[in-house]
Amino acid sequence: MPRRFLVRLPAPSGRAEAAGDRTARPMTAFPAWPSSAEGLVELYPRTPSPALRVNFIASVDGAATVDGLSGGLHGPGDKEIFDSLRMVCDALVVAAGTVRAENYDGLRLSPAARAWRVAHGLPEFPLMVIVSRSLDLDLDQLVFSDAPIPPIVVTTTRAPATRLDGVADVIAVGDDQVDLAAAVRALHDRGATQLLCEGGPHLLGALIEADLITELCLTVSPLLAGGGPGRISAGAATEPRRLSLRHVLTLDDMLFLRYTRQGS
Ligand SMILES: NC(=O)c1ccc[n+]([C@@H]2O[C@H](COP(=O)([O-])OP(=O)(O)OC[C@H]3O[C@@H](n4cnc5c(N)ncnc54)[C@H](OP(=O)(O)O)[C@@H]3O)[C@@H](O)[C@H]2O)c1
Repeated sequence: MPRRFLVRLPAPSGRAEAAGDRTARPMTAFPAWPSSAEGLVELYPRTPSPALRVNFIASVDGAATVDGLSGGLHGPGDKEIFDSLRMVCDALVVAAGTVRAENYDGLRLSPAARAWRVAHGLPEFPLMVIVSRSLDLDLDQLVFSDAPIPPIVVTTTRAPATRLDGVADVIAVGDDQVDLAAAVRALHDRGATQLLCEGGPHLLGALIEADLITELCLTVSPLLAGGGPGRISAGAATEPRRLSLRHVLTLDDMLFLRYTRQGS
């Protein structure tokens, strides 16, 4: 039987700003770890309105990687949440840097996840969406060559998109920089309103800057990674965006936080 301690935190200073939209969206602390896949879906549901949910893992001291990859941060429970978020989304959005570094493969899902989607009136496979300005993409990589349905590449109007003919659909938005808000609208127009972004840090920084995120799912791994690795967001400085904490879930020493944008 694990020992439990009650820790009393000091009251916030009278000058502190409110930490979130708590009256409208109460936080559920420490729900029990779900005993079924459906229980996880209830904790990370599809929403009636369009959503852009991002899912990241970080060490306790804020590192997004160990030895250049997120794999060194993994622990009990995070794969279940990762798979569940993929199962319920309409489109998985990933930056080209992460596709290259993490060697993404075709978005095939497990037979059980595909059956769940079909039973819930969704297409068998979510869309796979890769964000790239340069189109420096390895078309032999499994994310293209073993895709169950052609991926979508989001890029600029100036990018050499013909090299993707027959391999991927292209959404070209913005002349010099990818217009992420226009890309999200284009995905909505294709019926994909529940978007899941798995990174990476530069795409997260750009999404924060464009204020497009409605939900952040953050796994905190019980590790002090030390100096060296970057954070989960990168790029130019942006205006901070305030979030509301929706739940705190734990399994062993892993911590799973779900935040939404105020009003989402
Ligand atoms: N801890 C976690 O949860 C987590 C999650 C994901 C990734 N990671 C780690 O993050 C690292 C990869 O990070 P990264 O620095 O390469 O960042 P990234 O955001 O994954 O990729 C950057 C690249 O993606 C494309 N891109 C990103 N944002 C864009 C935008 N707004 N417009 C157009 N293109 C955009 C560009 O590709 P082009 O160069 O093709 O133009 C850019 O060079 C890996 O080590 C990975 O393991 C960690």
